Amino acid sequence: MPFSFQIRSLDEYTHVYEQSIREPETFWDSIAANFSWRKTWDKVLEWNFREPNIKWFLNGKLNITENCIDRHLKDKADQPALIWEPNNPSEDHRVITYSELYFKVNQFANVLRNNGVKKGDRVCVYMGMVPELPIAILACARIGAIHSVIFGGFSANSITDRLQDAQVEYIITCDGAYRGAKDIPLKNIIDDALVSCPFVKKVIVLQRTGTAVSMIKGRDVWWADEIEIVEQMGNPVFVAEEMDAEDVLFILYTSGSTGKPKGVVHTCGGYMVYATYSFVNVFQYQPGDIFFCTADIGWITGHSYIIYGPLCAGATSLMFEGIPTWPDAGRFWDIIDKHKVNSFYTAPTAIRSLMANGLEPLKDKDLSTLKVLGTVGEPINEEAWHWYDEHIGKKHCPIVDTWWQTETGGIMISNLAGVTPSKPAHATLPLPGIQPVLVDEKGNEIEGNGVSGNLCIKFPWPSIIRTTYGDHERCRLNYFAAYPNLYFTGDGCLRDEDGNYRITGRVDDVLNVSGHRIGTAEVENAINMHTGVVESAVVGYPHDLKGQGIYAYVIFDNTLHDPDLTRKDIAATVSRIIGPIARPDKIQFVNGLPKTRSGKIMRRILRKIAEGETTNLGDTTTLLDPIVVNEIKEGKIN
Ligand code: WTA
Repeated sequence: MPFSFQIRSLDEYTHVYEQSIREPETFWDSIAANFSWRKTWDKVLEWNFREPNIKWFLNGKLNITENCIDRHLKDKADQPALIWEPNNPSEDHRVITYSELYFKVNQFANVLRNNGVKKGDRVCVYMGMVPELPIAILACARIGAIHSVIFGGFSANSITDRLQDAQVEYIITCDGAYRGAKDIPLKNIIDDALVSCPFVKKVIVLQRTGTAVSMIKGRDVWWADEIEIVEQMGNPVFVAEEMDAEDVLFILYTSGSTGKPKGVVHTCGGYMVYATYSFVNVFQYQPGDIFFCTADIGWITGHSYIIYGPLCAGATSLMFEGIPTWPDAGRFWDIIDKHKVNSFYTAPTAIRSLMANGLEPLKDKDLSTLKVLGTVGEPINEEAWHWYDEHIGKKHCPIVDTWWQTETGGIMISNLAGVTPSKPAHATLPLPGIQPVLVDEKGNEIEGNGVSGNLCIKFPWPSIIRTTYGDHERCRLNYFAAYPNLYFTGDGCLRDEDGNYRITGRVDDVLNVSGHRIGTAEVENAINMHTGVVESAVVGYPHDLKGQGIYAYVIFDNTLHDPDLTRKDIAATVSRIIGPIARPDKIQFVNGLPKTRSGKIMRRILRKIAEGETTNLGDTTTLLDPIVVNEIKEGKIN
């Protein structure tokens, strides 16, 4: 029996979930049949978590852009595919229909080919949130080039690391990007990054802000000039490259517990199937709905739920260039009213910061078109959940609390809007096809309800990470080595009496600051670059708006003339090395760090002190020098 693509009732969910676990291959075979394939697969799945080696829809051939665009031309040519709302509300918004998107993606795919880009080449996209960003991404996918989007908030040094790791030869960027009152000089940042990347052949620059840039002869070209060349060629259609289901679609870098970000690799077939399936089911998308995801396309949420999921489903996806608090804290609500948005998907950190602005910005806002609300990226506290429910959803919009990761490609645990029950601050139940388990430190499965443990997944799903670019062993060690035959998420989790999952946060050395993943080791490496810093240790602490703030303990070797200035210097160093998102909130100078006899920093103690715990620091008997703990406690920054 084929499964219906969209689950519409709790009974159906229960039934389909059970079958999807009993016969996963039959289930996914039937879900994948809803897409347009050049050639169907010979086999649904081949896998082991040992190496790992995971392949979905073997020998299936497709191009994801034919699914995102071409197949909608028959019925939806004039329907908006993308609505773009500019940073400045006085500038006109833009609407791009499916037929216009088809035209523009074909055109830019020709630009890429004219500039030498071929199937398999790595293309870095470092742009602001303008419509040309999804166009560039889709053009890469059409040509079969591997896109690697870098968030506009990363510094030159972070970009260099990523370009070198992926041996990127082509870059698409903008002169600058508008974000609120700021104008970020993207091209200048790229130029700094490229000083150590001689292997980059071409940089295509879109003009957005009109800021002065330096264009290097033979390397840098303007987007508009290149489009003109294609126009002179008569705008030929670009026949989409035939891709194998397991060909790489994109690389997206994310932080782990080691010092270096890793390039998560997603492939064409499985990612397409899962991003679309999860989009349609979690948000209960209905034809004609306008979907507004506030994420930046530089993160996985933007990839899956601004571009690929909604477009594959034939939805209208709204993208916003600016920030929630500019020109005032009512901007999201204005956009919802202006474009009659039906589904709104944002991060708890945004909700908390808007909540902190009070109800004034909500005065005169209608919001009556809203049907579904969503959150992603970090645990949502009950207070924020209720505020969202009451003041935005007016108590009639289901809130989906969606748990997932860059590595999972799509939403894994979430209620399905209006179909399965929600519970404040709980991601609730897994999507059909997803098999979560909780394990103890030794990897024993913890069964039953009302328990907690480390969250793992015991069976593959189509958009599971395939490898970390250029270093498969790293992928194995990070996700598949902690517990045999399980994918380890790095998250701690509770399962309540009814079987609902509640994610409690990372159990590894990864911070979640305003919904952004940041490795403590990365921040420490950056702090240690400052002259005078001998050693540092970074931990997270609860922060009202950001969820977690960054607390740094620093041993400094010079006499501190002005500790405040030195703190600012250190924070500026981190901004320069990683980007402003990784700037420590608090820096405490210390004489020593609590270490075990084998020299390992006991972060557990530092974390407790940063959280404000003074007495119950746990076992300190294994410490080399217990005195430092008292000193650190006394010098705590409030
Ligand atoms: C956290 C973002 C609680 C979690 C899509 C995960 C969440 C990390 C939730 C992945 C949620 C994401 N509730 N925590 N609904 N969603 N997380 O890769 O710690 O940027 O491991 O992907 O965010 O972050 P990433």
